[in-house]
Amino acid sequence: MTYTRQPVGLFDSGIGGLTAAYAIIRELPQEQIVYFGDTAHLPYGPQPAETIRAYSADITAFLLQQGCKAIVVACNTATAAALNYLRERWPDVPFIGMEPAVKPGAHATRSGKVGVLATAGTFKSQRYASLMHRYAVNVELLENPCTGLVERIEAGQLNSPETEAFLRSILAPMLAVGADTFVLGCTHYPFVQPLIEKIVGPDATVINPAPAIARQLRRVLEERGIRSAERAGPHRFYISGPKGNFESLASTLLGFEVRVEAEVVL
Ligand code: DGL
Repeated sequence: MTYTRQPVGLFDSGIGGLTAAYAIIRELPQEQIVYFGDTAHLPYGPQPAETIRAYSADITAFLLQQGCKAIVVACNTATAAALNYLRERWPDVPFIGMEPAVKPGAHATRSGKVGVLATAGTFKSQRYASLMHRYAVNVELLENPCTGLVERIEAGQLNSPETEAFLRSILAPMLAVGADTFVLGCTHYPFVQPLIEKIVGPDATVINPAPAIARQLRRVLEERGIRSAERAGPHRFYISGPKGNFESLASTLLGFEVRVEAEVVL
């Protein structure tokens, strides 16, 4: 029996999924969130899909133990590697996944060229191949795995000249061939969205899928009749490794004081 006042679980390799949490808290302020950042195993992008699947299953089991009524896989890499498996293993649990916004990107572009920033694991996946075949028929996708950007963001380098130079080296070749739309296909990347927008300029479109995911979560909770009318308690945050900058980056993004409940070894 699921109760409306049970929390919603979210997980990611680190702070990235907080960009989804931000959108969810705005869309559904009555929901309590339990967030898990798998900082001990970060980054997920370069690791084999089977490894990410095992991490995702352990984290899901933990979030269900915490009483979560639904799970948002707030990570494109984990969605690509594990979402089907998680749905098979826990058929009664509603899972909401995240994938690069190729469809909205294909609709938004006027030049027919869309830059996709995601991790190596996401690009290699079957799920991404299927997105391309379905939605990128008359559109050219310019892909870059942004190797090292996740670590840079985790280190709090959100606005440094080095991060700007790094992003320019990725975006300039895309701009040079006419890309006018950029899809943020990794939940870490919205942390540097202001810098990306500065580089690509006001005429380009930058797509962060987090608000769409928050609306999708609302639809799922409403369909199942498990949307909360009143927040049951404070949001809770867990990580699996050293805290690093987690609390300060989370507090700045979410706009309230974030304290990690515990370091949980899974
Ligand atoms: N934030 C994750 C994603 O959306 C993964 C980042 C990583 O750990 O490589 O893909």
